[in-house]
Amino acid sequence: MSTAVTPPGNTNGSAVAEMRPVTVPDFLSARSRGVRLTMLTAYDYTMARLLDAAGVDGLLVGDSLGMVVQGSDTSLAVTLDEVIYHTRLVARGVRRSLLVADLPFMSFQVSPQQALESAGRLVKEGGAHAVKLEGGVRSAAAIEAITRCDVPVMGHVGMTPQSVRRLGGFRVQRDEKRILEDALATQQAGAFAVVLECVPAELAQSVTAALTIPTIGIGAGVGCDGQILVAHDMLGLFDDLRPRFVKQYADLGPAIVRAAETYCREVRDGSFPGPEHSFR
Ligand code: KIV
Repeated sequence: MSTAVTPPGNTNGSAVAEMRPVTVPDFLSARSRGVRLTMLTAYDYTMARLLDAAGVDGLLVGDSLGMVVQGSDTSLAVTLDEVIYHTRLVARGVRRSLLVADLPFMSFQVSPQQALESAGRLVKEGGAHAVKLEGGVRSAAAIEAITRCDVPVMGHVGMTPQSVRRLGGFRVQRDEKRILEDALATQQAGAFAVVLECVPAELAQSVTAALTIPTIGIGAGVGCDGQILVAHDMLGLFDDLRPRFVKQYADLGPAIVRAAETYCREVRDGSFPGPEHSFR
């Protein structure tokens, strides 16, 4: 397996800005090319630049920003205007990654017309390349309305965080028939990929086998066509929730606390700013 777009002249395995942008057709052809797709969330310019430079294939401005940026315990209060704002910030930092923006709760459920108008705003005002929305069978009409106007849609089935009140928490979903039907309805409606969240690995693998579009797993095992994680979780920046499926690749939270403690100590004892940080 290699990266979704083989970077010309990329000798150290890390992506650089001049590499060709990842496209929706790259996602669609990933499986036939034997390539696993990589996605992470991003909510601002600085993080988007870093993750894009690392060669991440897709960046999602997820409504998880409600938790990791805004400090709420669910994503339900996130507004379309807020996702547009964060998408605009991320768009400025993206050179190569496919930029996907989430349709937040109640920005697409009312009608296909509402879904299309919200998706259009994410593209025109935010600079998104594609949008993501939750729900399979019940969101099929919305996906059809959006894709009919050539805005690419990523679906999201299994554990859908916007359903947290009905589900009674962020729980693993095991209803095989429903999850397969939702994934098939998402594909049938025109989506170019689908996120499978918190479903048993064997089920995710069989759903993947039943689909021609790529599956992007989160808490869904290795049998998906790609993976996504919330960047704050995998970088160790956010520990309010610690789902089992998160692998922590860095421990930036404690590093930030240590740096700020050192700064406070040096300001208080007068060792910062030194002469090298001062103007004569
Ligand atoms: O909002 C989000 O970040 C998501 C991903 C976790 C898939 O939907």
